Amino acid sequence: GLPERVTIHEVGPRDGLQNEKAIVPVADKAEFIARLADAGLRTIEATSFVHPKWVPQLADAEELLATMTRAEGVRYPVLVPNERGLDRALASGITEIAVFASATESFARRNLNRTIDESLEMFAPVVGRARENGLWVRAYVSMAFGDPWEGEVPVEQVVSVAVRLMDLGCSQLSLGDTIGVGTPGHVTALIGALTEAGVGADRLAVHFHDTYGQALANTLAALRCGVTVVDSSAGGIGGCPYAESATGNLATEDLVWMLHGLGIETGVDLPKLAATSRWMAARLGRPSPSRVVQALSSK
Ligand code: HMG
Ligand code: MG
Repeated sequence: GLPERVTIHEVGPRDGLQNEKAIVPVADKAEFIARLADAGLRTIEATSFVHPKWVPQLADAEELLATMTRAEGVRYPVLVPNERGLDRALASGITEIAVFASATESFARRNLNRTIDESLEMFAPVVGRARENGLWVRAYVSMAFGDPWEGEVPVEQVVSVAVRLMDLGCSQLSLGDTIGVGTPGHVTALIGALTEAGVGADRLAVHFHDTYGQALANTLAALRCGVTVVDSSAGGIGGCPYAESATGNLATEDLVWMLHGLGIETGVDLPKLAATSRWMAARLGRPSPSRVVQALSSK
């Protein structure tokens, strides 16, 4: 069966904007986030407290958090890699964070300058202190299907990192298909293996990139396994010009079109959301890659 309702974890302001060449002014980011909330999104990943040299697009995290409106009932998680990031997030009044691990050594090294073991050691005090402060903690596991340097990633390798992350005390685990190579059978196999290892669908989210056009099929496979939290990016922004992936995250509009067609509630007002993505596309200087945004625009 399929769920009656799906929670969309909107990542456009973070995963989308971190991968765009253009650096968007902080006032436009704040307006983007406000418009996403107005379109009905209830979880909006706002930014990252990472090293500004690593992700200059999000170097304005403090200023954004100080100036943006936080709407009633909306959650604004931020990415935090280490204790320095946690200190910054706490100082900004954040109540939800996400740590981000890799299923492969190659990407752990490139993304965090650490081995997998070292990155888990880095996260342990972050999760511990976050929970002492009453924060909700999500964990990502990137390269959960394939890796550009290592090829297909064995399911057992993902399960091992996932279990260690959940043992640290994280509440939700998002399975990242960072380069978009996964297919529905692989999704079903991975969720099955995680369930057997004690990380059930009620604690999972899926994070698909649409590089190979598989994101919606993969999402449907995950929903059939009992997953009810899906990550997506408004307008599908985030195509990284420097990485292997030519396209960004699954577009929120494409996801909403499918879910509403299936009679699944999301709380999202699709025309309002598509208008927001067209507005952001004008700021980024390129059309939205979302098929649904394009189709609605040509009407
Ligand atoms: P490092 O160079 O090993 O850092 O980077 P370090 O711990 O050696 O510290 C070096 C200096 O950086 C120190 O300053 C620290 O204070 C400073 P110094 O003492 O030399 O003056 N520093 C910081 N400054 C501000 N904020 C911080 C911070 N941390 C250290 N948080 C580090 C290690 C983790 C910091 C770095 O690798 C980093 O920032 N990585 C982030 C990379 C990133 O954001 N990637 C994108 C997100 S992951 C993703 O997109 C995938 C996902 O979408 C899911 C999917 O698609 O699969 C989530
Ligand atoms: Mg991503």
